[in-house]
Amino acid sequence: MSEVKILSVTNQKGGVGKTTTCVNLSTALAALGKKVLLIDMDAQGNATTALSVDKDSDNNSYDLLVGSVKHSEEFAPNHIETFIPNLYCIPSSKNLSALDIELANTENREYILKHSLENIKDNYDYIFIDCPPALNMITLNAFVASNSLIIPVQCEFYSLEGIAQLLETIHAVQSQLNKDLKIEGILMTMFDKRNILANNVLKDVKEHFGDYLYDTIIPRNVRLSEAPSFGKPVIMYDINCSGSQAYLQLAKEFLER
Ligand SMILES: Nc1ncnc2c1ncn2[C@@H]1O[C@H](COP(=O)(O)OP(=O)(O)OP(=O)(O)O)[C@@H](O)[C@H]1O
Ligand SMILES: [Mg+2]
Repeated sequence: MSEVKILSVTNQKGGVGKTTTCVNLSTALAALGKKVLLIDMDAQGNATTALSVDKDSDNNSYDLLVGSVKHSEEFAPNHIETFIPNLYCIPSSKNLSALDIELANTENREYILKHSLENIKDNYDYIFIDCPPALNMITLNAFVASNSLIIPVQCEFYSLEGIAQLLETIHAVQSQLNKDLKIEGILMTMFDKRNILANNVLKDVKEHFGDYLYDTIIPRNVRLSEAPSFGKPVIMYDINCSGSQAYLQLAKEFLER
């Protein structure tokens, strides 16, 4: 059996498509027969909602972090089954929002998630962590626990500015906390091919980060934004729409890399 791969979907910029990517790539991989766990580490809980799972259920991601501090070794929270075969979830909790303060005096606090996952990670082929739009202690925990990072970038003018800061953080983590951390790929999202600016941004990103860039580009597609309000990933909502087809394509590219 091949080893589990743990991935964080991250960008400290808000609203760039992290959650949409996390939910729909996880679902597409589950549909292709992989056993996938999605951990919602954002207090907003949008990924949890998109999978019709209740926020603040027992065994949420706050418990996953803080439970292992309180109960030490034997703590192994269960996942929650979603309505999608092969896809499991550890839901969000509103308690996550105070975590930075709560952990301020905890020793080795960057390693908590990594240790918590030791007990459960071998049950899956892939674990995806949906990160909040911040470079905070939750995000650091996610980076330390991960093998690699997927960075969604919105096709708009200011998108590149944040990437430099994100790369600095990644380098700091690589040199101090997790030397094996890799960048899995940069994913362009919400692309509108009629928009000249979007085409220019794409060209810029190709020039600077070409090696990391996925060939798959996620188009702007209203179905992607409608699906969460029905508690569904897009491929369970409208498999034929351009958003579904793009995320299925991404899953194939992801598996080929
Ligand atoms: N390709 C797309 N086409 C159209 N709408 C999209 C697309 N991707 C995401 N959206 C919508 O844009 C909004 C932001 O997307 P999403 O929640 O995935 O971003 P995020 O990076 O997780 O945001 P946050 O930083 O708040 O966690 C959502 O309403 C989502 O439904
Ligand atoms: Mg999000």
